[in-house]
Amino acid sequence: MDKLVIKGGKPLKGSIRVSGAKNAALPMLAATLLTGGSFIFENLPRLRDVRTFLHLLKELGAKIDFAAYEEGERPVSVDTGSLASYEASYDLVRTMRASILVLGPLVSRTGKARVSLPGGCAIGERPVDMHLKGLERMGAKLSLKKGYVEAKGKRLKGAEIYFDIPTVTGTENIMMAAVMAKGTTILKNAAREPEVVALGDMLNEMGARISGLGTATVVVEGVKDLRPGKFRVIPDRIEAGTFVMAAGTAGGSLKIEQAEPAHLEAVLSKLNQAGLKIKTGKDWIRVENKGHLNSVDIKTMPYPGFPTDLQAQIMALMTTASGLSVITETIFENRFMHVAELKRMGADIKTEGRSAVVRGVKRLHGAPVMATDLRASASLVLAGLGAKGTTEIHRIYHLDRGYQAIEKKLASVGADIRREKADMPY
Ligand code: EPU
Repeated sequence: MDKLVIKGGKPLKGSIRVSGAKNAALPMLAATLLTGGSFIFENLPRLRDVRTFLHLLKELGAKIDFAAYEEGERPVSVDTGSLASYEASYDLVRTMRASILVLGPLVSRTGKARVSLPGGCAIGERPVDMHLKGLERMGAKLSLKKGYVEAKGKRLKGAEIYFDIPTVTGTENIMMAAVMAKGTTILKNAAREPEVVALGDMLNEMGARISGLGTATVVVEGVKDLRPGKFRVIPDRIEAGTFVMAAGTAGGSLKIEQAEPAHLEAVLSKLNQAGLKIKTGKDWIRVENKGHLNSVDIKTMPYPGFPTDLQAQIMALMTTASGLSVITETIFENRFMHVAELKRMGADIKTEGRSAVVRGVKRLHGAPVMATDLRASASLVLAGLGAKGTTEIHRIYHLDRGYQAIEKKLASVGADIRREKADMPY
């Protein structure tokens, strides 16, 4: 198992390129199941979760150009001309919850799907009840057998669906189920995340009729056919935000390229308040750290609020800002696993229910720490970049799920960071 070794205290300087967004790529890949034919994807991030999803599509019968994928930069073709199966197995779903995204498109195209029900995960229970209720409202017959959801429905019909909470993958799943349903589907309290919009844009290019994308009410008028095409994955706003904060913990100045600053308004405004100098252009963000940061309070919210996927990272930044920062997590009930690890590095943090109070200390010190989930791992990288001495981050397979070559990107702008094989004592 690999570990990351970081010698902290090296200011960053130069430009760093953002990859395609994992959470846009996954639903876009799922959408290929809606119709047979050859799709091309540009800017597909090379990540463990995306590779897992490609394998899931392969199990379902898709033909994938894995050579192009492994090579790194090339567009990747996915051909879903004929499907061989309608089942997402437990083995795949347990490694990646986003596999549930095949449910909507499979039922829509084949009239049936069998998908292992995702269990809880490190950040919370994460039920998928709203995905299932939405499909039932559209006429699918659902049953739970041996841990698998089985869905059947010849041609789904349009319905009005109200989400109790705006759910990102739930909105995506139902949108995909609805594009070829009979009649109109209205999604209320829908998620407004840029990744949902990116999927909707792709579906519209395929011939779907979706309006209201990016608002809380999405209207999908069912169509008879869809066509495949060539699509580009939007930039990863969470990766971009993580790099902006890296200039915060390590110091220095960075230009973050191939980014979409419009997707990060809440984050950049908070970081600006904290004292980072930030400028943006159409597809770049320039950040400069003048050396003194103030505490800011954070409350995670659905888009366009502050994203839960950057909560752990901003907490790492706040550990050395002057004053007190109250960070409240409203989306997931257990997303503070990084707190104990940051404390091992000298952070002063107290958690009380869904809030964490961070009292800024002068500096963190390097320590061996353990990654517990994807974004928690990123927060440890940020903490390590600013800490005195050496930080070793174990279990970085979490990081590899969602950050493409993070150590290479950070090393290219001056960080002292390398990947090593971890010796296991047993
Ligand atoms: N929820 C329910 N029932 C449902 C669905 C969701 O109660 O049927 C709850 C969840 O438990 C949570 C809230 O609704 O409390 C919102 O969860 P959501 O469904 O929006 O999360 P998700 O779709 O499972 C996606 C991202 C996550 C990101 C969240 C929130 C993908 C593949 N995953 O998850 O990304 O944190 O939205 O923005 O898009 C990550 O990349 O590290 C990550 C965890």
